[in-house]
Amino acid sequence: MEEQLIQIKNDAMSLLLEADKEDIEQIYIDFLGKKGRLTLAMKDLPTLPIEKRTEVGKLANEIKNILEEQIDDKRASLKKTPASHTSSSANPHIDVTLPGNKPSVGSLHLVTQAIDEITTIFQTIGFTKVRYPEVEYDWYAFGALNFPEDHPARDDWETFFVDLPIDPKMGPVVLTPHTSSGQVREMLKGELPIKMLNIAKCYRRQSDVSHTSMFHQFEGLVVGKGVNISHLKGVLDFFFNSYLGEQRKWRIRPYHFQFTEPSFEVDVSCGICNGTGCKLCKEGWLELGGAGMVHPNVLRAGKIDPEEYTGFAFGWGVERVLMMKEGLQLDDLRILYSNNLDFLKQF
Ligand code: FA5
Repeated sequence: MEEQLIQIKNDAMSLLLEADKEDIEQIYIDFLGKKGRLTLAMKDLPTLPIEKRTEVGKLANEIKNILEEQIDDKRASLKKTPASHTSSSANPHIDVTLPGNKPSVGSLHLVTQAIDEITTIFQTIGFTKVRYPEVEYDWYAFGALNFPEDHPARDDWETFFVDLPIDPKMGPVVLTPHTSSGQVREMLKGELPIKMLNIAKCYRRQSDVSHTSMFHQFEGLVVGKGVNISHLKGVLDFFFNSYLGEQRKWRIRPYHFQFTEPSFEVDVSCGICNGTGCKLCKEGWLELGGAGMVHPNVLRAGKIDPEEYTGFAFGWGVERVLMMKEGLQLDDLRILYSNNLDFLKQF
């Protein structure tokens, strides 16, 4: 009888291994149901000699418990198993003909789009795009550009200083405050004439509607024989007409920069108030940047003879130029860096 009980148990267990939802109830009936094999075998227990009955009865009960437990576990695990995804006929709930989930496609940030457009405009008239360090020596950012030692821009109220040892020749390390730091680096390459466009991130301790602590500038530098101020005006005119359209007014005002002589500030008629005056502009004009003829001392720092060569330079804020673009109506520059997706997704 023990062998018979063990055989029943082994048969049930091997069927359970392969069983699916429908099989499991049949296995229960076949082994534990009223006329199941184990139930019938247990009914024979009283026919055993008394001394064997307790021992075999105990074995039969153990097998019954094991089978009940195994059947319950199998039922539970089949309930948890997800429906098959391999074929649509095996699982009528899946419609494989439905379109899939498309990955969402992002777009270039407004400032990146502006940089691309500005680059293309200047490349059309022969400028070559270059890139210089954002973490820069004081000498390239100020010293070589004719700034006196005590100029306020060299103070840490204006410029971010990096906590690194001061180089005996190049001075402290700063986060570059303007793209003009690339001027002397470009000259020291020793390739003339120069027609460079340097677009980069700049850093200053500033924040208001028209200033952020990180912003972008684009710097043009042209050095060659016979380069004069009318070339500078021609380049500015070409840029404004291409980027903002011929209807917009621009002007230059006399100004002072250490590294250009004469120097100008360049303004454009405000695109937010149409030149009537608003919180962003000064009486209808917005300053976009500076420009001028390269100072002879800067040419000398770049190992170029100012008796033989002349040049002009300009440096403007990408974000400011972008604000003036027709139809954008950006009246607070900080929105560009506020990670406001509702705003950015429009472009
Ligand atoms: C300069 O930075 C000079 N290097 C420009 C220059 C180049 C003059 C070559 C002559 C020859 P300025 O500090 O004015 O100049 O800055 C130029 C422009 O950068 C500003 O008119 C503005 O458009 C932009 N800008 C400056 N600071 C910020 C700021 N914190 N946030 C956003 N834009 C800024």
